[in-house]
Amino acid sequence: MDDNRKLYEIAVMAKENAYAPYSGFKVGAAALTDDGIVYTGCNVENSSYGATICAERTAIAKAVSEGRRNIVKLAIASDSKEYTYPCGICRQVISELMPEGEIIVGNEDDIIIYKVSELLPHAFTLDK
Ligand code: THU
Repeated sequence: MDDNRKLYEIAVMAKENAYAPYSGFKVGAAALTDDGIVYTGCNVENSSYGATICAERTAIAKAVSEGRRNIVKLAIASDSKEYTYPCGICRQVISELMPEGEIIVGNEDDIIIYKVSELLPHAFTLDK
């Protein structure tokens, strides 16, 4: 199994911790740093729906809050047969914190690897 598939499989495992009683849509994520540390995340829903946090942002916030901003890859998994891509809010957060990184989406058979810049070209910045 190659390293990208391994990271995806860690995201599959992280999905099991998802708290998704409202949507029933469990998502897992795994963020890899350039020194080989993996931070996992899952979606954490709330009865005030807008308070929900996605799996990707959970994983990124865990890495950053542990002092690591050197995220190079982020894998995303769900129970869907389709590939699960990051939502728009997550793409913005991903673009800020791992702009040169790669996103891995997958299913049981395949994974696909994208550059972050492919998933959110022309991301918003405060540059003047
Ligand atoms: N969700 C994620 O965790 N990541 C995404 O990129 C899209 C959506 C979650 C949020 C919510 O708990 C559920 O999936 C359905 O929208």
